[in-house]
Parts: sequence; C-alpha cells; structure tokens
Amino acid sequence: MKTMVLGPTFEAVASVPWSFVAYGVLSLALLWQAGRLLNQLWWRPRRLERVLRSQGLRGTLYRFPAGDLGDYARLNKEAWLKPLPLRCHDISARVAPFLDKNVREHGKTALSWFGPTPKVTIIDAEVTKDVMSNKFGHFEKLKFPELAKLLGGGLAGHEGEKWVKHRRILNPAFHLEKLKRMLPAFSSCCEDMVSRWVELLGTDGYCELDVWPELQDLTGDVISRTAFSSSYQEGRRIFKLQAEQAERVISNMGKMIIPGYMSLPTENNRKMRQANKELESILRDIIGRRVEAMRQGEGIKDDLLGMLLESNMSETDGDGQAGMGMTIEEVIDECKVFYFAGMETTSVLLTWTMIVLGMHPEWQDRAREEVLSLFGKDKPDYEGLSRLKMMTMILYEVLRLYPPGTLLVRKTYKEMEIGGVTYPASVMIELPVLFLHHDPDIWGNDVHEFRPDRFADGISKASNGTLAFFPFGWGPRICIGQNFALFEAKMVLSMILQRFEFEVASSYTHAPHTVMAMHPMHGAQIKLKIFIWNGMLPVARSGPWTGLMVEGQFLNNTSVIYYRSVISNEEEIYATYSLPDGAAPTRTQLTYNGEYQVESWRSSQWTILAKWPNNKGCNLYGYCGPNGYCDNTLAYPMCNCLNGFQPTSLEEWNKGRFTQGCRRKEALGCDDGFLSLPGMKSPDKFILVANRSFTECAAECSSNCSCVAYAYANLSTSRIKGDPTRCLVWTGDLIDTEKREDDGFSETLYLRIAGLDAGTWKKTRALKIALLTVLVSSILSGIFLACYKFKGTMKRTRRKKLLFYGMSTSEEPGEGNSAQDFEFPFFSLDDIVAATNNFSEACKIGQGGFGKVYKVWNMWNEGKSKDLADPSIADTSLLDEVLLCNHIALLCIQENPDERPLMSSVVFALENGSNTLPAPNQPAYFGQRSNEMMQLRENIQNSINIVTMTAVEGR
Ligand code: HEM
Repeated sequence: MKTMVLGPTFEAVASVPWSFVAYGVLSLALLWQAGRLLNQLWWRPRRLERVLRSQGLRGTLYRFPAGDLGDYARLNKEAWLKPLPLRCHDISARVAPFLDKNVREHGKTALSWFGPTPKVTIIDAEVTKDVMSNKFGHFEKLKFPELAKLLGGGLAGHEGEKWVKHRRILNPAFHLEKLKRMLPAFSSCCEDMVSRWVELLGTDGYCELDVWPELQDLTGDVISRTAFSSSYQEGRRIFKLQAEQAERVISNMGKMIIPGYMSLPTENNRKMRQANKELESILRDIIGRRVEAMRQGEGIKDDLLGMLLESNMSETDGDGQAGMGMTIEEVIDECKVFYFAGMETTSVLLTWTMIVLGMHPEWQDRAREEVLSLFGKDKPDYEGLSRLKMMTMILYEVLRLYPPGTLLVRKTYKEMEIGGVTYPASVMIELPVLFLHHDPDIWGNDVHEFRPDRFADGISKASNGTLAFFPFGWGPRICIGQNFALFEAKMVLSMILQRFEFEVASSYTHAPHTVMAMHPMHGAQIKLKIFIWNGMLPVARSGPWTGLMVEGQFLNNTSVIYYRSVISNEEEIYATYSLPDGAAPTRTQLTYNGEYQVESWRSSQWTILAKWPNNKGCNLYGYCGPNGYCDNTLAYPMCNCLNGFQPTSLEEWNKGRFTQGCRRKEALGCDDGFLSLPGMKSPDKFILVANRSFTECAAECSSNCSCVAYAYANLSTSRIKGDPTRCLVWTGDLIDTEKREDDGFSETLYLRIAGLDAGTWKKTRALKIALLTVLVSSILSGIFLACYKFKGTMKRTRRKKLLFYGMSTSEEPGEGNSAQDFEFPFFSLDDIVAATNNFSEACKIGQGGFGKVYKVWNMWNEGKSKDLADPSIADTSLLDEVLLCNHIALLCIQENPDERPLMSSVVFALENGSNTLPAPNQPAYFGQRSNEMMQLRENIQNSINIVTMTAVEGR
C-alpha cells in the first residue's frame, strides 16, 4: 500500500531535472539569507527602535544599513583637525564628538545606531554600577570572535562559568604580595629607560623627546619581564608581535568589525595570522618548558606565568580531576591578553601623566617633593610606593580626566529593566566613562581643571556624593591588573621625577583622541631637563632655551677657542663642540661635586678649562630664594629682590641668608602692568603656552590675574617645522632667576608690578618713546661721530659681553684680570653670516671674507701695517709701540708653534722694544695649507675633536 502511494511521487521526483532542484535549493537558501539579512538590517532595528522610543528614549533615527557610523567617522575627522589649547582638559567634544553631540541634543540617555544595532548611551553613575554589577548575568560583553582568536580574548572575553574559573585561577597572580615580588622587574626596566634618557640629554642638560613610544616600549618590557622573567627576550619578541598586531587592528578597525571580514584572504589578515602563528609557537614553547620544569620539581618562578601555572595546578590537584584547570591553549590566550590589556593602558596612563605634569609644574614639584622625601635618590621600594599619597592623587586625577578606556560597553542578552527603561535583548548599552568623569553635576564646576587635591580624602569623597570614578571598570569584571598598573606607574614616575624636571615641548600639540585607548594624536613631546642634584636638592639649572646658540670660548690656558653650538632640528636637539686642529683632547663631564666641566688633557692630566655653575655663591639653584635673583652682571654676583619685591626678612637678608627670598611690597591687582627686565635667566616652574605670537603671549598673561610674569622667544632659527613660538608664563613665586650678560640664555622677562597700571604704563611708555625719539634724533649726529671715534673701544666691550657667559675659568680674563686687555675673536652668528656672505664658498674663513688674523696678516704683507693702528688711540700711544705690538702678536700666532717666541722674550720685547725681531711667518687659521699636509691630516685617525660625555649622578 505504502509503495503504491509513494510510487508516483518518486516517479515525479525522478522526472524533475537535478539542476532544477539545485537551483530551487539555492534560491531557497538565498531567500532565507536575504530574509535574515533584511531582518538584521531593517525589521529588527525598526522593531527595537519602536520599543525604545515608546518608552520615551530620544536619539538619532535609524538609517539603513550603517546607522550612525558615517556621521561618527565624519565628526571624528572634523574634530581631530582641531587641537586643543595647552592645559585645556575639557576634552570630551574632541575625543568623542558624535557622542558629545548626541548627548547635547537628546540628553544623558540617548539612542544612536552602531550599524543596525541600537546603542543607548547612559551618563549616570548609578546605572553604570548596576549594569557593571550584572547581577542577573543579563549583560554581556561585545564579541568579535575572529579578532579575539588573533589578539587573545582570554579572561576579558569569557562569559559565565568559564570566566568564573579563569578569574579564580588568575586572581592570585595579581595579589599585592605577588606584585611585591615583581617590583625589581619594574625598576630594572625603568632604570634602562631613564639611563637612556640621561644619555640623550644635551650638554646644556636639556633634551626633547616623544615619550609616548618610549613608555610603550617600557610597559611592553615590564610585561615581558614580569610575565616570563628568564624568558624575557622571547617575551620581548611576543611584545613586538603583539604591538604589530595592535597596529594592524588600529589601521583596519573599520573593516574588522564587519562579520566575516577576518576570514577573507587579504594581505593584512594573512600577516596577522602569520604573526599569531609565530607568537603562539613562542608562547607554547615557553609554557611547555615551564610546565616540564615544574613537573621535574623545580621551584615556581616569581613571574606572572609561574603564578598562573601554580594556581592552575592547585586547581587541578585540589579537585583531583585534571580538566578543572586551564588547558595550554587557554594559558596561551591569557598570556596574550596580559600584553593587550596591560601594556597599552598603562603606557597611556604614564604618557598622559607626564603631559599633564609637564603642563602643571606646581603639581610636578609636589610629586617630586614626595618622592624625594620618601626615597631620596634610592630605588623606590614597596613600602614607600604604598605610601605615595600625592602621587596617587595625581594618578587618579589623570585617570579621571584622561581615562585610557573611554567607554564601557555591554549588550543585553535578555530583556532587562534598568533605570526605569526595559531594554529588549540585543541592545548595546554604552557607559561613557569619559563623560561621567567630566560631568560638572558629579564633580563640580571645576570639573575640567587638573586638581588632584579633590582626591585628598579618597575616591568616594572626590565627587558630589556619587561615586563615579570608573577608569578600571566596576563590579565583578573590574580590571584584574589595576594594582599591577598603579604600582608600575608609581615606580616609573618616581624614577623619572628623581632624575628629571620636564615640561611639554613647544612641538607638542594637545590632541587627545581614541584609537582603542585614548592616545595623544601627535605624540607626547616632552622636554626633559636634567638637574644637578645634591641629595634631594637641585644644585643648578640652565635657563630656558632661547633659540639657536653658537658660543665661542677662548680657553686662555690652551690658547685655543672652542665653539659650542646647540642645533635644533625636527628630530633632535643636540650640542656640538668643535676644537681647532691640534687642540688637546677635550671632554665635558658632570663631576661628583655637581659641577659640569670642560676639561682638556694637558701634561698627562685633565685640566679644568671651564665649569658650571661658575660661582656657587649666587648661581646655585634658587639661592636667592623666591622672587630674588642673582645679579651676575656685578663683579661679585649677589642676590637682589626683583622689582616690586623686598626681602621677606631684612634681618636674614642682611646676614646673607636668602632662603626666605622676597615678598611683594604691594599686593598685585588684575589691572597691573608689566615691567620689562632684559638680560634675565628666566625663572624655573614656567608654563609653556603653545602657538602664541608675542602680543598673544602678553595677552595670555595679562588676562589671567594669577599670572605674574611672561617671557617670549621665537625659535624659528632652530626649528624647521612645528610651532616655533615659545611663550612662557609664570604663576606663583619666581624661583632661580638671574640677571646676566646678554648671552644665549638670557632674555627679557616681563614682570607684573603692583601699581603699574597697564594702561598708564602704556601711556607712560608711549610718552617715554616720544621723548626718546626727540632725544635720539637731536643727538644722533653726535652719537654717530662718537661711534666713529670710539669704534674700536665699543667693539671690544660688546665682544667681551658676548664671550663670557655660562662658564668661567680661573684663568679667564675679567676675573680679577683686566678684561680690557683682551679682544678675542668671538663673533655672533649674524656677524659670521654677513661676513661670509651666508657661508659662501668664496668667503671661507681665512680666505678673504672674514677673520682679523687674515686681515692683519695681509696688511702686514702689503706693507700697510701703519694703517692697522686704531685712530682712537693715536692721541695716547706712540705709533712705534703699536707697530711693535702688532709685530709681536703676529709672531705669537705663527702656524708653526716652534717659531713662536717664548713668553719671556715677548715680555722683554714689549718692555724694551726690539729691532731684531724676525719677520713673522704665516699665522695659524690661515687658509693655505700644502696638499701634502692636508692629505697627511686626513689619513690620521685622531680623536682630537671627539668629546667624551660623561653623565655622573651626584651623590
Ligand atoms: C592603567 C592601566 C589599566 C586600565 C586603565 C585598565 C582598564 C580596564 C578596564 C576598564 C577593564 C574593564 C573592561 C570591562 O569591564 O569592559 C579592564 C579589564 C581587564 N584588565 Fe585592565 N586596565 C589596566 C591595566 C591592566 C593590566 C596591567 C593588566 C594585566 C597585566 C590588565 C588586565 C585586565 C584584564 C585581564 C581584564 C579583564 C577582567 C575581566 O573581565 O575579568 N589591565 N581593565
């Protein structure tokens, strides 16, 4: 019967062509897929939108098929074009412009569309805690399984029981007791970095570098060492591979979230798989070796892997069942996560902390004070690190303003009521940590200010009654590595603060943006200054950089001139020293006494030619106290109070004790004007304001009532690209100021003076200028004549001024000797440029365009030696005397040292005159040399001009 019924059906089927069936099945499958897609991209979003809007939620309308992703990218692009002013911490609109706009338009609970998935942004601390507590397990993390396979999902990606098990196994590895054992690894990585930075410092104690990649390398090193101790080198390779993976993810993020994209055979996917294969094989090797060693009874290592394996083994043994612990594959996955979760976030925290402390030197000082009082110059230890209160407050405030993870995101797994709204399954809940941290309703009106003291009584008291601080997340899935990260950050910052002062460099652009974590978009260019320390106290400091410097110094005791020039270009700033051929080997070094010295190798020992600080009495760091300055223009430098100030204690001051410094004679008002003080070494603790013209810099200071001084320089000569302006402003006390000769480190300081009304001052100044103009024009002709008459003398004075700065030597003229006896060949760069027709080939030094020696020699040869006599001395000196001096001078500078007269003969000839002096031969520094001689010189490998730099830390 059955056969009879089925027989015709089978026949019918058999008669249908197979291709037709195949097409039918294919069409059905396609139809089903199309239906699914349509549901995903159209019906479901529309349905969910209706449900959400019906409960009063406002936000953007769903747009098929990409939702708000287009707007998101567009607004990011626009916002990222505009950097923020320095010290502006109101960053939400730049970092998350779409979110900022949506929240402003639709309120603190706002709907938007992540492709076809509805996303509800909630800025509410209580809701955040509820969602993150996830009591009923109805919220889950977003999943990108393909990506997780390559980067490692590990603990951060698991849900349910698997997460519970892994968290239980991993937890012990992050206990404080275990972290204590990792501190040596933290400090040795940091020591490497800090020592490298010390080497980068120029001889003036400055260096500018992008600390962001430096700190990424550091945190990668730390994870490598703390995770794999002895297999540290292999760990480094893993870190490099993971860093490459991260870069690929960042540059392809947009495509990677498209389902199925990661399976496509693209170049990028292929490279990522290749790197993953290598990475897993290294990890498998390390783990295999370690497991084997543990089986052989070797002790557990004090690294993350050792602790993880120990915990994993006890899990297995405790239950007596293998399989309760993690598999090797799972351990590999967790190790990968250490790198991703730990490295990026911590390096970002450190980077922002350096940037922010560079912008707020007053907090940097407080942090340094605390560090020095706890550790001095010693390596920070666990107990000390646990007691760093100020630093903790600073780190919290940085984490508040610049949280590395700006968002916490979850997805409803089932229908769930939260904050009075019932969310269906598959809705993204976005909890913007950044916006919560910048909410004035929670933190008060000073929310965008950097005020670490708000955390003085702990996190719970920092905000207006609501606990709303989530840099490490919240609830059961709170960051497992937060103690690790904070200890690491404290160690690194302590070691940096022990060695350096830093400020943001003028090339830094304040442009925070988010690519996975919150990054500084154009790097974190920080200018490091080394201090010469004596124990915990700074000994001396150079002034802020004022632009290109070329300095020539006559070293009297070697009869050579050594030139120092500081070169600044896009990549680096460095100082070069050059010595003439034949000069003795020369080196610079920082001594144990805290003196920076230039030394020359003479008579089988190093002889000090110059040193800094040159006069310990007054030039020591902050010697004249707050608002006092060291007047270096006096024969005996001494302390003075800046204009508008008087000694805080006259009695102390008169006894030569200046530490209390000076106080204002009159309190400052907002309308007070500025007095210009030329030739000053600018005080310490300045704030750098980028991209300001001189007028804007002045306006920046005068518009801020707490600004007490400003200084401005245009560094365009030293910088090829980037912001060439250097506007410094000061608030608070002015420390370590000097009055100096007009040198490479002095500049005009504009000091706000009580009672000097800006308007009146301007008028007074205008009047002064007018009077001056009249005066100047009336006596101009007189001056012109005087200049002509006293040309020689004036030249001498100016050169002397340019010559002696920064360093001194006991043999320098001017220190007890009669400076007027000397006129050294020191020239400003402008003079050299003009004289050599911008260094043209035809005007080489010594070959026509430039050089006194050359001119004197030529005039001598041409029989015009009489013309050499300066007319200004014609009345007071005999021509014969002048000619004798010139003759002897030419003899003394002959190229061949053996032909030069001994000093005794010179003195004798000067006193008695001599008709028997030989004719001078060509002088040194003369352009003509025999080719043979040149060839010979070039073939000799000598180290005469190589300067040995030694940085020695003061004890
Ligand atoms: C300043 C540094 C750090 C910050 C700001 C940070 C932030 C966070 C945040 C916000 C979460 C929660 C994510 C969520 O719930 O969606 C998290 C989880 C996690 N973090 Fe960190 N983290 C830091 C350092 C570290 C370090 C150094 C490690 C490891 C060495 C680490 C390992 C993890 C892991 C494994 C998770 C997942 C925990 C779980 O789901 O149970 N983190 N981190």
